[in-house]
Amino acid sequence: MAEHPAYPVGLRLAGRRIVVLGGGQVAQRRLPALIAAGADIHLVSPEATPSVEAMADAGEITWHRRPYAEGDLAAAWYALIATSDTEANNRASAEAEAHRVWCVRSDDADAATAWTPATGTSEGVTVAVLTTDARDRDPRHTAAVRDAVVEGLRDGTLVAPHHRTRTPGVALVGGGPGDPDLITVRGRRLLAEADVVIADRLGPRDLLAELPPHVEVIDAAKIPYGRFMAQEAINNALIEHAKQGKSVVRLKGGDPYVFGRGMEELQALAEAGIACTVVPGISSSISVPGAAGIPVTHRGVAHEFTVVSGHVAPDDERSLVDWPALARLTGTLVVLMGVDKIGRIAETLVAHGRSPDTPVALVQEGTTAAQRRVDATLATVAETVVAQQVKPPAVIVIGEVVGVGPHEAA
Ligand SMILES: C[S@@+](CC[C@H](N)C(=O)[O-])C[C@H]1O[C@@H](n2cnc3c(N)ncnc32)[C@H](O)[C@@H]1O
Repeated sequence: MAEHPAYPVGLRLAGRRIVVLGGGQVAQRRLPALIAAGADIHLVSPEATPSVEAMADAGEITWHRRPYAEGDLAAAWYALIATSDTEANNRASAEAEAHRVWCVRSDDADAATAWTPATGTSEGVTVAVLTTDARDRDPRHTAAVRDAVVEGLRDGTLVAPHHRTRTPGVALVGGGPGDPDLITVRGRRLLAEADVVIADRLGPRDLLAELPPHVEVIDAAKIPYGRFMAQEAINNALIEHAKQGKSVVRLKGGDPYVFGRGMEELQALAEAGIACTVVPGISSSISVPGAAGIPVTHRGVAHEFTVVSGHVAPDDERSLVDWPALARLTGTLVVLMGVDKIGRIAETLVAHGRSPDTPVALVQEGTTAAQRRVDATLATVAETVVAQQVKPPAVIVIGEVVGVGPHEAA
């Protein structure tokens, strides 16, 4: 039997009786997939691991607390033989053969009539890897092949476009703060499948260099906008490309809905009748402080954090921020787009009650190779920004959390 390769097949076990002999580690590993397949699972074993026992308690399997007995496999469609008693395994194997029940054996692959592949899933596809020859079984190799394929599909390094289900439209993808490893698995896969990518200045720009040559990459900052506003021109570009039947990714820095105008783009696409999916991203408001050793909350120090845009000054009539209220808070204040206005922001916070000694950290180009952290206080931040030439993009953290990490101020 071992001279021939195994014939791969997908068993549809829903509602069908399958028998597992032995309640140890092998059963524990195999049972979740059998449960997921909807099988009517009968475990025959005097003992079981606590995890297997929990599956029985939850009603996911039926546990017969006794050793294997002749006749157990008679009505089964499929059997997994995994007891520590070789003699019992041999008898069960013989019974399976007599009743033509496909049977996996954990102790003797050569005596088995079925092998369990190394499996993994990604976006609706199950990858199953089998050894070709039972005499040359190398489970670590099959698991490694499975991992390579599944991880490649998940992170987009292995490109397998969905031809049947792939529909043209737009994906608003949050790319994270800049480090290419900090985009989500889904975001990276959609990027790998895109025909057109419209990218912001912020976000994981290194990923753009990895895209196949046929992908059209458009810099959002360079879309000519003539009589339109820049945002309108971007919306139009998204709509036009999607209308041509292309798969368009709008790659944004951080999360699309955190000062990212994601909803405006979604609304414009909806008005144009274009399908749009939104993929969340890791926002710089939390990840950039973290990358610089600053937790936005810390037990006993800050029980809240507030993320606020500093793109207009506190006294600007367009400001929607209640700065006096923020000054009364004792937790962490995270200011985005605030480098230019930080002097007036700090002044306002102090004027409304926040201590001038409150620590401040400015983290420029966080998570990238150029990351830089500059420390100050509310009293000194205005002059520090100038003296240290802090430039956007930077996240500004205000509050006692700035001092809790091991970082020494630059
Ligand atoms: C238009 S907002 C977009 C925020 C983004 N949607 C997010 O969730 O991170 C741009 C601001 O985010 C902050 N920012 C984004 N990426 C950053 C990074 N890698 N380092 C420092 N600040 C960053 C800066 O304050 C920048 O001015």
